[in-house]
Amino acid sequence: VRATELLTRLPAWEERPGPRSHALADALRDAVSTGVVPAGTRLPAERELAAALEVSRGTVVRAYDRLREAGAAVTRHGSGTVLGGDDLRGAERRGAALLEGLPPGSILAGMGEERRAEVVDLRGAAWPGTAGLPDEAFIRTPAELDELRTDSGYRPLGIPVLRRAIARHLTGQGLPTDASQIIVTTGAQQALDLILTTLCEPGDPVLVEELTFPGLLELLTTRRLRPRPLPIGRDGVDHLALGRALQQRTPPLTYLVPTHHNPTGRTVPAPLRRLIAEQVVETGAILVDDASLTEIWLDEPPPPPIAASLPEADAHILTVGSASKWLWGGLRVGWIRASGALLDRLARVKVILDLGTGFESQLTTAALMEREDEVLPLRREALRSRYAALASALTERLPGWRFQRPTGGLSLWVDLGGAPGDAVAQLAARHGVLVPPARVCAASGRDVGALRLTFAQDEATLRRAVDGLAEAWRDHLAHTAPRAATPIV
Ligand SMILES: Cc1ncc(COP(=O)(O)O)c(C=O)c1O
Repeated sequence: VRATELLTRLPAWEERPGPRSHALADALRDAVSTGVVPAGTRLPAERELAAALEVSRGTVVRAYDRLREAGAAVTRHGSGTVLGGDDLRGAERRGAALLEGLPPGSILAGMGEERRAEVVDLRGAAWPGTAGLPDEAFIRTPAELDELRTDSGYRPLGIPVLRRAIARHLTGQGLPTDASQIIVTTGAQQALDLILTTLCEPGDPVLVEELTFPGLLELLTTRRLRPRPLPIGRDGVDHLALGRALQQRTPPLTYLVPTHHNPTGRTVPAPLRRLIAEQVVETGAILVDDASLTEIWLDEPPPPPIAASLPEADAHILTVGSASKWLWGGLRVGWIRASGALLDRLARVKVILDLGTGFESQLTTAALMEREDEVLPLRREALRSRYAALASALTERLPGWRFQRPTGGLSLWVDLGGAPGDAVAQLAARHGVLVPPARVCAASGRDVGALRLTFAQDEATLRRAVDGLAEAWRDHLAHTAPRAATPIV
């Protein structure tokens, strides 16, 4: 593996405790065990890796020594130093192979790790906590406790009070919904997995926007499905390209984030939603409308979910939602709105997968949704002021970076004007700011010269993040300028 390639697979290795050589060795070892770097990978020559990581050669020599001592790498004469693990067999080998297929830099995988307090982690587009939500919602009332005394707790499709609250919530968004159409899931992530598991077979193509929610791309890899990218423009997905793709050979599934798109923050306008619904119905396709970010608009409410555009669309469109993006990710509550045979099949598979989502968090979510009118305006107001802080810091410190004000959501897509997102993200980690490179959002898996920032953190944290990004950008320019000046002959 080339040093520059390896670099993109070891984000934030320097954040690990201990001397740098230990940090590097440990990061390499973990990268193999989590499949980010395949076992059997030949490590670059010490000098080359040292140059790419901007550390001394001695650091890399000591790191390789440490790996060898731990049995995590072997050096064979003539073939260099190879990362260990070629003794895997059977199921373990299959597990390793599956992980190796995942895109590098999984955003959430590292979020649970301990980090220095001053590190700013913008990898997940998520609220930093429950602050701002009413505490009482997290405490069970005597009446609730009383009911639980005589309830087995098995409600695979969700507890009635929450299914009703979600149906009301969607109806309020302009999509009339009955509680019987709702399946409560463990976050929108499980909703997507449930849909893929129920409706797709390994090898199937799935139409997706060319830039999309990284968690979906990881699910596609895990389920052995193939993303087929659709171009996106100012108004979100290119509906003409979608129409052509559906006409040619209707794939089993299309997945779109038409509202406050993750990562670009764009929204498909109402007239195009209707065209998309018509194309889906005409071709007999099935569309997943991932509406997880719908609630958090900046300037004006978005149009209703796509299923609201046509009455016949109900048999073809699955609307996915989440409590994570407007309430809190720790609730792990999401949902699917479906109808008819699709609803029946998904419901059956949800029971098989986990017998239902936890009662406690469903009760908390229902209590929070009860107070939606009080909670949501505060959440939106916080986002507006956080976005303003991020945007003004970027304009001031990084005037060459281009971005558009998102219609909503939690992500800001920053175009680096041709600079490699992988390298800039790596340099940012050195300055204590963890950001996902664009690659994790790209259906092509390529570096598309951008970064995904989130404005869900508080203003001071965002300003600190921009300071680190500005330093990273300065390093990047210093690193590339002499090379750019070298005439190519
Ligand atoms: C578009 C989209 N879908 C789904 C999810 C997953 O959400 P949840 O936390 O509900 O699993 C996210 C979270 O980032 C998202 O942005």
